[in-house]
Amino acid sequence: MRVADLPRLSLAALLTVACGSNSAPDASSDPGPASSSSKGSALPSSTTTPSSPLEALSPAVLPPPPADVSNRFADDTRAATLGQALFFDTSFSGALLDLDNDGKAGTLGKAGDTGRVACAGCHLPSTGFLDSRSPGKQISLAAGWGTRKAPSLLDLGQDRLVMWDGRHDTLYNQVFGPIESPLEMNSSRLFVAEQLARNYRIPYEAVFGAMPAFDDPQTFPALSAKQSGCQPKYPGSPKSTCDGTFHGMPGDGAEYDGLSAANQQAVTLAVVNMGKAIGAYERKLTCGPSRFDRWMHGEDDALDASEQRGAALFVGKAACVSCHSGPYLSDQRFHNVGLEPKPVGVVFADLSDTGASSGVGAAIADPLDIRGIYSDGDDGRLPTAVSPQMQGAFKTPMLRCASMRPSFMHTAQVRTLAQTVAFFNRGGDGPGIYGKNELRPLNLSPQEQQDLVDFLGALTGPGPDGSLQMAP
Ligand code: HEC
Ligand code: HEC
Repeated sequence: MRVADLPRLSLAALLTVACGSNSAPDASSDPGPASSSSKGSALPSSTTTPSSPLEALSPAVLPPPPADVSNRFADDTRAATLGQALFFDTSFSGALLDLDNDGKAGTLGKAGDTGRVACAGCHLPSTGFLDSRSPGKQISLAAGWGTRKAPSLLDLGQDRLVMWDGRHDTLYNQVFGPIESPLEMNSSRLFVAEQLARNYRIPYEAVFGAMPAFDDPQTFPALSAKQSGCQPKYPGSPKSTCDGTFHGMPGDGAEYDGLSAANQQAVTLAVVNMGKAIGAYERKLTCGPSRFDRWMHGEDDALDASEQRGAALFVGKAACVSCHSGPYLSDQRFHNVGLEPKPVGVVFADLSDTGASSGVGAAIADPLDIRGIYSDGDDGRLPTAVSPQMQGAFKTPMLRCASMRPSFMHTAQVRTLAQTVAFFNRGGDGPGIYGKNELRPLNLSPQEQQDLVDFLGALTGPGPDGSLQMAP
């Protein structure tokens, strides 16, 4: 039996941050508009602006990702190709730690092995860039076990604050999470910069210009994969924050801290640039048009009767659209749905997860955030403070291609779409451990619930081009 980690910030600290602003994403409580039960009456003839709730979910063309001002390489083809290579490369990772890494099916190797974890190890292209690999197909086992489900990266370019709790406000700073987590790649920015110099100097310099001499051990102490990252007190059961010694990142009291301020910044910038390249690649990943869109745009038999009723329920009686709105079926906000964390396959239940109130607080405190020196611009996506509605709230997931997911919710405790719909039908598990559950019971009949499940199944598109689903 394992005990989940404590939250990173205390409640008191969060409530202090919460004072004095109302610009944070808030919790919407508008019920969805009532709707008729057939496409004909739900869809007026006007085509330019969405004038029916269903039309807003399916514009004639799915909008491409909005410009990313934080990353001036966001739409640079060479950056995206480099990012694709980096995404699939396992050689940046340190040692696997947890003894559940026994080399058997679903693990990435044996405890002590290095160079096993790539981004693609938990974001598998074949299932929409999520984790369908780890034992139990719920939460991820890499260097150690995490406590949240790896979300699909399809249509990620639509997103602003990423992670279930909004902990990252840019794609370039997101990569520091997995790289430096003792539970994921168990590595460090210094080792990653050194690997970039060894293996990617030419493509890196073609995009970002001259790379410092990270491969010169006189200036940048050379780390091995084994030294990189955390050497925990009890190596067989690592924690999310390193409780032992660590090497190659801020606070190590060793190789990284010993660098001059300018060299520390150069190392961080190289990893920021890696993140910008990966971000350029991630923007290309999309689920794409589904049978639902074909039905909306003239193919009357693209949906069967149950799926059509499900579409009407989604925007009508079931009011799913009050949070799952727009062409990607998410308002990109944080909501409290009263989910009570239950142990998943490997006996984890994070009962202390306060969601966006700690995540957005961490994003605001991050020196690498969109307001910092590594960003190429700021579009105001990062709230200035945590709002009370963020207590126990998690990001509304986009729902295109959702039927490819092996488990649901940030805890991955719900195993099927039918159980997910049943969860919403009963108005969640209860009042919510933190904050206030926004849901109310829906009183849907078993048939209506099935209709919603069928509708969700009709939202699956072709996925990204095959050439994007492997190392370039
Ligand atoms: C050990 C498994 C694992 C590895 C390795 C991993 N991720 Fe993730 N990823 C996750 C999990 C779990 C989450 C959700 C965590 C959370 O919300 O706290 C996540 C979230 C994300 C998100 C946010 C998605 C969203 O919808 O908000 C992005 C982007 C992402 N990962 C990209 C990457 C990249 C790029 C790499 C490689 C540098 C990577 N991941 C490596 C498991 C992993
Ligand atoms: C109050 C806002 C809200 C409403 C209303 C709502 N959802 Fe959600 N939905 C969310 C949030 C937030 C999550 C993630 C919760 C979590 O992981 O803790 C979620 C998760 C889901 C998931 C799981 C996706 C995944 O990747 O894990 C599905 C499927 C889903 N909702 C479908 C629906 C349907 C169908 C309805 C209507 C019956 C509905 N939702 C109503 C906010 C909402």
